[in-house]
Amino acid sequence: MGTLLQIRQNYIDKLSSIYDAEEAKALFQIGVEALMGINKLQLSLQLQNQLNSVDETALQDLLVDLSTGKPIQHILGHAPFYGAEFLVNAHTLIPRPETEELVDLILRDHQNQENLRLIDIGTGSGCIAISLQNNLKNANTVAVDISQDALAIARENAKRQKATVDFRCLDILEWELTFGDETYDIIVSNPPYITEEEMSSMHHNVLQHEPHSALFVPQEAPLLFYDYIADFALTHLKPNGHLYFEINQYLAQETKDLMLKKGFKNAVIFEDINAVPRMLKVY
Ligand SMILES: C[S@@+](CC[C@H](N)C(=O)[O-])C[C@H]1O[C@@H](n2cnc3c(N)ncnc32)[C@H](O)[C@@H]1O
Repeated sequence: MGTLLQIRQNYIDKLSSIYDAEEAKALFQIGVEALMGINKLQLSLQLQNQLNSVDETALQDLLVDLSTGKPIQHILGHAPFYGAEFLVNAHTLIPRPETEELVDLILRDHQNQENLRLIDIGTGSGCIAISLQNNLKNANTVAVDISQDALAIARENAKRQKATVDFRCLDILEWELTFGDETYDIIVSNPPYITEEEMSSMHHNVLQHEPHSALFVPQEAPLLFYDYIADFALTHLKPNGHLYFEINQYLAQETKDLMLKKGFKNAVIFEDINAVPRMLKVY
């Protein structure tokens, strides 16, 4: 039987063709926390500890799965987001830390307001909609996605987290046919925004294992979803309502300009914790 340190070295060696050493260490840490309940700080203090055979087998099995390139969140079946665990599978985008920052921005802007009507467009696992619904007072949240399979996971996440969200399956590019005259205080979306050109620089485990319909847009129309959602917002946002987007960092200014061209008075770009332009607030 080995120590945690030895098994971690195993992870670094066996995953070296897919992940660099820091990524392999991070995956090991996530695995240790999920399988053994040991957090980062505890791990650093227990690296020399001998493992029992059950834990060692579990960590070795995880390593076998990881070496196929499958994301750890798909292997474990869940991913953390804004203080909760969300079920994920091959039909849902794995919630990203930068999207937590978008949720945080919205909550900071609206924390003292009650009875807000919200819509999350392209909800995936439901991470944005459920986090907002559960952190705002008496909110009324609608969440839409084109994928029935993603919505099935989102509904299960809402049930587990006791969030009442009205999930609807529809194509937002056809919103003129599918929406009535309902209006919202907050419209939020993290839509597909990665261009085919950017695809080549992406980690192959994202390319192979995450749904392409959640990620990619045609090279010739990178702002397709922003264009349609802005038009939707022009008719479905309440007079003092706010539209929030996660944005493509390379198209931040273009996305802002598009909003101003559509007639919105204000469009403010926000950077994430890594100083990357990542969010846009439009009102
Ligand atoms: C980038 S993912 C965001 C998922 C989730 N909101 C998150 O932040 O993790 C984009 C989502 O938009 C959905 N989507 C793609 N095309 C759509 C369309 N035409 N209408 C509605 N939803 C769409 C995808 O199925 C996917 O779940």
